[in-house]
Amino acid sequence: MRSLLVGFTLIVVAITAPMMAAQKVELSIDASKTGAKIDRNLFGQFAEHLGHGIYEGIWVGPDSKIPNTRGIRNDVVGTLKAINVPNVRWPGGCFADEYHWRKSIGPQRSVTLNPNWGGVTEANTFGTHEFMDFIDQIGAEAYVSVNVGSGTPQEAAEWLEYMTAAAPTTLVKERAANGHPTPYKVALLGIGNESWDCGGNMTPDYYVSQMKIYSRFVRNFNPEQQDKHQMLKIAVGPGGDGPRWTDWTETVMKAYQQHTWSWDINGLSMHNYTVGHWPPSYASVGFGETEYSEILKSTLEMEGLISKRSAIMDKYDPDKKVALVVDEWGGWYAPLQGSNPGFLVQQNSLRDAILAALNLNIFARHADRVRGANIAQMINVLQAMILTDKEKMVLTPTYYVFKMYVPFQDATFVPVTFDAGRYTHGNVALPRVDAIAAKDMKGKLWLEITNLDPNQPVEIEASLAGITAKSATGETLTAPKVDSVNTFDAADSVIPRPISAKVQGGKLTLKLEPKSVTVVSVEQ
Ligand code: AHR
Repeated sequence: MRSLLVGFTLIVVAITAPMMAAQKVELSIDASKTGAKIDRNLFGQFAEHLGHGIYEGIWVGPDSKIPNTRGIRNDVVGTLKAINVPNVRWPGGCFADEYHWRKSIGPQRSVTLNPNWGGVTEANTFGTHEFMDFIDQIGAEAYVSVNVGSGTPQEAAEWLEYMTAAAPTTLVKERAANGHPTPYKVALLGIGNESWDCGGNMTPDYYVSQMKIYSRFVRNFNPEQQDKHQMLKIAVGPGGDGPRWTDWTETVMKAYQQHTWSWDINGLSMHNYTVGHWPPSYASVGFGETEYSEILKSTLEMEGLISKRSAIMDKYDPDKKVALVVDEWGGWYAPLQGSNPGFLVQQNSLRDAILAALNLNIFARHADRVRGANIAQMINVLQAMILTDKEKMVLTPTYYVFKMYVPFQDATFVPVTFDAGRYTHGNVALPRVDAIAAKDMKGKLWLEITNLDPNQPVEIEASLAGITAKSATGETLTAPKVDSVNTFDAADSVIPRPISAKVQGGKLTLKLEPKSVTVVSVEQ
């Protein structure tokens, strides 16, 4: 029996050994050839009043036993600081078009309903002041979505006056009485959310007429945002592929082309989730290579969508003044068993880490037009950075990707040429690798390489021109299985680990593990 087993083992080794041989991929990088700036806002987050995204995820209240600062969880704040969150989009999502800001300021908060998300009550204990406190604690900027669907231009205009004005108006005095005499900064303003659907089911023409009114009257009065740091106004853009979305993009951009002094927009949003198919039914954990490859194939559709939308925008805005802002993106899977389906609770696996890297790379390659993106959503909802359960907190594989990409924030894109090769599984064919490079503000070269192949390692040989490379160091994120996750009990299953890279004669070599995300920096 023993010899039979040994024989079997040898045969398996003989069969699998050639399969595991590393594939070679050559990259070519000329660091003197640079492209657009990779705007730090590509790494934005989204926090909606949905499930436990805000309540329990961020807000536990000042009386909670969970360590907090003015009601905001200290563990979450510390963790988010480490990924340099540039901006947080709030309060929705669909929630934004039913949100009435006055109900969540001051000592008396109204309890309202959240019909979009689980039909639960909304305590409104987390409102404008708490949001601004939160983003201040994590060092991010505010991306506020105003209510176009069920609100009015007056309501939105007054909210902006309340937040940003310095002159002693009645609203400013009210803000001061509520604890904040100095004006808040609002960096980005979303004029509605999915106004073609949950935001009011508007036709493109109807939306455009609303958008012009909001753009005109919803002003930012912060004295520090008048010349420099002006608030960017983001119009609702398309939500998918097909003629409906082409029409929507055309209508908004055509209007922009003819805009007069009295209104303007600086961005057009785009939403695109990786779902596979609606309604979301792919499992977020407990899946195999088939679901892994199908979801990655689906996520790579982002490239085509951005190219199509950019082409329309180029027609009406050849100078690329209007940014494309992918302010909702990420994996959207079946709700975890036992959770409220309206809370959009899902696990976050190694597959999501790879999905995140692929999307961030697509955004970086389109950095001349795509200057903002917000992953959905920051905590406990959809493709989250952080999961919490009462006092417990765990960081997801996606969180670590955002951490590894921090050096790419505001770095300058450097083109990389390579033959990606091919990984196939069943009917699905995917590029074996993906890669981007960029120079940070100090001129250091950074390289990200993703190995999509879950079975085979890849040997990378990168020729580096335009710099005198001396050494390279980096980190890689991988795990035993495509659906490996971090849990409250085993929080370190999918975390980045150091990787060794060799630099010799202007060439960088390193070996990538199967299904991995790797970031290396090159010392000169
Ligand atoms: O992120 C969840 C929801 O997805 C948002 O509220 C909405 O804008 C989108 O449909």
